[in-house]
Amino acid sequence: MSEPKVWAKKSTFIFAAAGSAIGLGNIWKFPYMVGENGGGAFVLVYLLCVLLIGLPVMMSETIVGKYSHGNAIDAISKTAERSNASQWWKGTAVLGMITIFIILSFYSVIAGWAFDYTYNFAIGEFTGKSADQVGKFFGDLLADPKRLIIWHSVFMILTALIIARGAQEGIEKSLGIMMPVLFILLIAIVGYSMFATGKFSQTMDYMFSMDFSKVTPMVVINAMGQAFFSLSLGMCVIMTYAAYMRKDVSITESSIYVTGLDTLMALLAGLAIFPIVFANDMNASAGPGLLFVTLSTAFAQLDTIGLVLGVAFFFLVIIAAVSSSISMVEPFVKWCEERFGVNRFVTTFVYCFAVWAFGLISLFSFNIWGKVDVLGTGKNPFDLLDFVSSSILLPLGGLLVALYVGWGMSKKISREQLFSLNGFFFGLWLFVMRFIVPVLILLVFVSSILGEAKMNAIINQIAAYF
Ligand code: TRP
Repeated sequence: MSEPKVWAKKSTFIFAAAGSAIGLGNIWKFPYMVGENGGGAFVLVYLLCVLLIGLPVMMSETIVGKYSHGNAIDAISKTAERSNASQWWKGTAVLGMITIFIILSFYSVIAGWAFDYTYNFAIGEFTGKSADQVGKFFGDLLADPKRLIIWHSVFMILTALIIARGAQEGIEKSLGIMMPVLFILLIAIVGYSMFATGKFSQTMDYMFSMDFSKVTPMVVINAMGQAFFSLSLGMCVIMTYAAYMRKDVSITESSIYVTGLDTLMALLAGLAIFPIVFANDMNASAGPGLLFVTLSTAFAQLDTIGLVLGVAFFFLVIIAAVSSSISMVEPFVKWCEERFGVNRFVTTFVYCFAVWAFGLISLFSFNIWGKVDVLGTGKNPFDLLDFVSSSILLPLGGLLVALYVGWGMSKKISREQLFSLNGFFFGLWLFVMRFIVPVLILLVFVSSILGEAKMNAIINQIAAYF
């Protein structure tokens, strides 16, 4: 066999995995979830989830990928063979690829909104607009399939162009530019928020004052789902990137960096957004409209500074989204390349076209199909796809990864790969993977299927016994 393809630089795995992890999940979803789930309480629970579940699962996916140096399906196959475990575990990777296909299809549509905003901020379209006008702007955008299709296409083409060039030439090189820009832009905006709005202490209070009475079971469940999504876990994405990992790079250390960077970026996004929202007397719990309506209105009131901030901010969102979307294309393309020896360029474009076409289902759900009720679920096509992928397939994938690495795969492989961990921490990691992670994921899973009301009723019933 030829030498495995690996990243040229030692630091690339960290950059690549962090690029995958840091995305719309951090900049768009995390801040509004903090707002919706009671501020500091959610932040605390989220941090615990990242540390207790996110980090060990990140290490697990990295072990499998690094061990085999191949695409996720073969990686599982190879480790299963050595462990005398069933080849059926490969289903984990297949499920992961199906899930990221769905996630990417609407991720691209939403990333497209950021393109539209960057453009319209740049041409001064937002300057001076009131909250109502910005709300209408957002509504008009969603109601206009043509405008959405243009940006959805631009986003998918950009993603395809990077992936088509290969792991080193495409992914590694583009990340070398994107990641520093991402950090610099976010830190600059945080700097502005910190010094220019006078709302920094209020924000710190909002995000970090722990009001334990607000920690409800639903907050815990939401925080855990968000941790999985934000860290790109359970979908064999990190596993795929880990396949390009150099032998001399430590799994534990890299996982700590990636998890830490992703968390830092989510917190920084909060520190960038909330001061501006508070300074304009706006509501932090606006939900998904927090960026596209609330924050944008605040920018619109700031004239030239607002224009610059708006362009910088939405450009940042685009970069974060592209560095994530490429990680969702790579697993399938790498598999096709290795399995069938097909041309990477062609595979990438065919695959991205398929994702693009499938994305139209979500795209039309924001306008012409908005009222369509799929199979009597009460959800339009996008809501259903979002629910099935994020709330069912994502935790299911996480569960399978945890069960495989904890129980299916031989301990010998993980011990070998985690050579830098001492006995105590290795034992702790294994215990968490075997018992804690599956139980917690199962909880998220059941609750997301049952829904909030039923879940609360069950929890109250159980609590009544004590
Ligand atoms: N983690 C990314 C974000 O925070 C999204 C993402 C990339 C993802 N790859 C993934 C989510 C794989 C789930 C699975 O935006």
